[in-house]
Amino acid sequence: MKKLRVGILGATGTVGQRMIQLLERHPWFEVSAVAASDNSAGKNYAQASRWMLEMPIPEPVASMTVQPCQPGLDCDFVLSGLPSSVAEDTELQLAKAGMPVVSNASSHRMKPDVPLLIPEINPDHLDAVELQKKRIGSRGFIVTNPNCSTIGLVFPMAALDRKFKLEAVHVVTMQALSGAGYPGVASLDIIDNVLPAIDLGGEDHKIETEPLKILGRWRNNQFANAPIRISAMTHRVNVRDGHLEAISVQLATKATREDVEGAIRDFTSPIDELGLPSAPRPVMLLESHIQRPQPRLDRDRSQGMAVVVGPVSPCAVLDYKFRVLSHNTIRGAAGAAILNAELMYRKGLIG
Ligand SMILES: NC(=O)c1ccc[n+]([C@@H]2O[C@H](COP(=O)([O-])OP(=O)(O)OC[C@H]3O[C@@H](n4cnc5c(N)ncnc54)[C@H](OP(=O)(O)O)[C@@H]3O)[C@@H](O)[C@H]2O)c1
Repeated sequence: MKKLRVGILGATGTVGQRMIQLLERHPWFEVSAVAASDNSAGKNYAQASRWMLEMPIPEPVASMTVQPCQPGLDCDFVLSGLPSSVAEDTELQLAKAGMPVVSNASSHRMKPDVPLLIPEINPDHLDAVELQKKRIGSRGFIVTNPNCSTIGLVFPMAALDRKFKLEAVHVVTMQALSGAGYPGVASLDIIDNVLPAIDLGGEDHKIETEPLKILGRWRNNQFANAPIRISAMTHRVNVRDGHLEAISVQLATKATREDVEGAIRDFTSPIDELGLPSAPRPVMLLESHIQRPQPRLDRDRSQGMAVVVGPVSPCAVLDYKFRVLSHNTIRGAAGAAILNAELMYRKGLIG
């Protein structure tokens, strides 16, 4: 099979580096272009990037020249790890020039015709792309993946909403340092400390709103949000990778603890039969020990693509409570974008 050529926007950053690492031996895609800011453009990738991963830079990429993030990149589609402030215009410019854009940034996530995609949960939301193409007036389009904490949260939400209908969710996050990009949080702010309200509460808002779009429906050419109340409180903690979340849920129908654990354990996805290379099976792993999941021990399970859920116990305020862990730069960013692209390829939207 001739591989599709991928351009990486924000290739020198935390998410861009993960994309390059995860694509090194990808059976369908290969990196053909790397792009970043004017500070990096013109340098070769090894010089321009401050490579932070344990394995060496994949050889063909190390010697590539970093390009500016603009139309004309030599690729079939782009994966974007750009900051939101830059992604807003740059991604739209590329889409208008005919390029499919798979983005990690928040800028386009909540637009009324942009899929906020998790292949295992809402693959049908890709139908919105046709309407978006008409608006943009191009063959190009933008598909986004959610915030890195939204992704971990929304898997058990999807399982429980499907079986019992969810009424309310309360979530407290403990988010890793790599989630803030490089160089991220100053060491003197985070050593011996926990920082509440990431992005001055902007992160709380994303986690309270994105799941409603993801679990909602695409019908009559618009998204209808799921009717669930969510309250979120976010924190940056002194962990390198892996976001841990403490979640309480209220269900519309009565369920036992065993029913709730069964719904999580038995969750199946509409893409299970598609054979997407980055899709973990099962996608949710239910732990039985009360002191799991832990970031250091559980973030790399299923190559960092699984969502690890701790044991369920009764909640004295809502109905049930449990913890969830997901790898923020893999399942929450680079791996999520690659999985989105795999589904788009299978559905004939790219390539
Ligand atoms: N880190 C995570 O866990 C995570 C998870 C989910 C989503 N995200 C989202 O993914 C995006 C990237 O995050 P990150 O953590 O990888 O950030 P990062 O480490 O700060 O990297 C930012 C990248 O964007 C490039 N860039 C910055 N300004 C630019 C400009 N004006 N024009 C072109 N390129 C520019 C940088 O290039 P230079 O090196 O040349 O400056 C670098 O490659 C953000 O939107 C973030 O919210 C991150």
